Amino acid sequence: MNDIGNVDYEGLIPNNVDLAHDTRVKHALERWHPGYLDWWNDMGPEGFQEKLVYLRTAVSVDPKGWAKFDYVRMPEYKWGILLAPQVEERKIPFGSHKGEPAWQDVPGEYRAMLRRLIVIQGDTEPASVEQQRHLGNTAPSLYDLRNLFQVNVEEGRHLWAMVYLLQKYFGADGREEAEALLQRHSGDPDMPRMLGAFNEKTPDWLSFFMFTVFTDRDGKLQLEALAQSGFDPLSRTCRFMLTEEAHHMFVGETGVQRIVEKTCTAMKEAGIEDAYDIEAVRKLGVIDLPTIQKKANLHFSLSLDLFGNEISTNAANSFHASLKGRFREDKLEDDHALESATYPVLRLVDGAIVKQEVPALSGLNMRLRDDYVRDCSSGSARWNRAVSKHGVEFEFKLPHVAFNRRIGEFSSIKADPSGNILSEAEWQKRRDEFLPSDSDRIFIEGLMRPELRPGKFASWIAPPKVGIDNKPGDFEYVKIAG
Ligand SMILES: [Fe+2]
Ligand SMILES: [Fe+2]
Repeated sequence: MNDIGNVDYEGLIPNNVDLAHDTRVKHALERWHPGYLDWWNDMGPEGFQEKLVYLRTAVSVDPKGWAKFDYVRMPEYKWGILLAPQVEERKIPFGSHKGEPAWQDVPGEYRAMLRRLIVIQGDTEPASVEQQRHLGNTAPSLYDLRNLFQVNVEEGRHLWAMVYLLQKYFGADGREEAEALLQRHSGDPDMPRMLGAFNEKTPDWLSFFMFTVFTDRDGKLQLEALAQSGFDPLSRTCRFMLTEEAHHMFVGETGVQRIVEKTCTAMKEAGIEDAYDIEAVRKLGVIDLPTIQKKANLHFSLSLDLFGNEISTNAANSFHASLKGRFREDKLEDDHALESATYPVLRLVDGAIVKQEVPALSGLNMRLRDDYVRDCSSGSARWNRAVSKHGVEFEFKLPHVAFNRRIGEFSSIKADPSGNILSEAEWQKRRDEFLPSDSDRIFIEGLMRPELRPGKFASWIAPPKVGIDNKPGDFEYVKIAG
């Protein structure tokens, strides 16, 4: 056995959970593996499965050096099972079991609730791979193509992480759930993925970058909340997944930033001052800033729906049961039980948007969503710095939480991105100001042509400042010819 920082890397399934001595789970995972590979080949990245891709693989859980980079064919990627190191004598940080030793096994009374939390998280991981499967064919560079595939293989690994928990701790029903995770498919009319945003299309690269900024960030917040769990194996699994997730948001934030930079540079060179002179900007072969804002509006609002209803008994129950905490629960200063606390939540009362104090336990989804919105502003701030650096007059803004919602209080109304309530007729008239229109889609589609020569980039995106793993600009991140 070759141990790289306590990870058994030699077997079929690299792991740091001593699978070699856990034959029941090992066999269960080995039985699941062929179905997973079939799913990857059928539903994963289209057209590049045989190509060598310069990918990072997790080989350790040491925060200082957990990955190695090398060329690999995606179906041969080492999807391992890696849990962050166990914290000695970890105590449950919140809920009715606060202060008790963290559980190493599933507490019987919470079995169903815990399984559901794991399945919902698990379902999102393969869903995004499915949503992104056609994008390779229109990649704007080898650098971006590689980043797409990196995100894809890691989402595949996150599926493995959740399937391990199901197989190890939930017996026969865990096995059934693990199978079902491969049977539901994004956008499938009969067996769709569980959450709305994961059944939407990711039709172009701007959507992909926005998805990784906004929807992967929902994943980050959910993982942060689950990393606090009293069920220690879930906590450890999520903590390690968060290490990988950071790269997904980096891909998105810098991806949009590079598009913004290219647009601003082209505008300046052409002497265009008005960011809203859309026709003139588009003639330059770059994406105008208002259209980028509209894509942000769409993906932000779809991602807000992932936080569920404003008032939620499920959220209250899973917190009370010490299964799902708040964002960085262990850094918060309160009683961590919230039995008598309140939390301010925006609600729809008599047709108006008002802030209401609700029991803090029932408002936990909104608390997580508020943390999410704060976290999102790092992305828009980055884009605004790029705009002002070029001296262009434009500001990216996150839309109001009432804008374009399908779940919760605001799904029954129409609101503009500033949160002003609109009549149905006004919404219909102005919708295309706020969200990508058919003609925006057609314009972007027209730009999506592959640029797969090393060191070259499509007209609408700037090269990155630094390469992956410090590689030079013309590095062959994906070997197209070989
Ligand atoms: Fe993930
Ligand atoms: Fe992700």
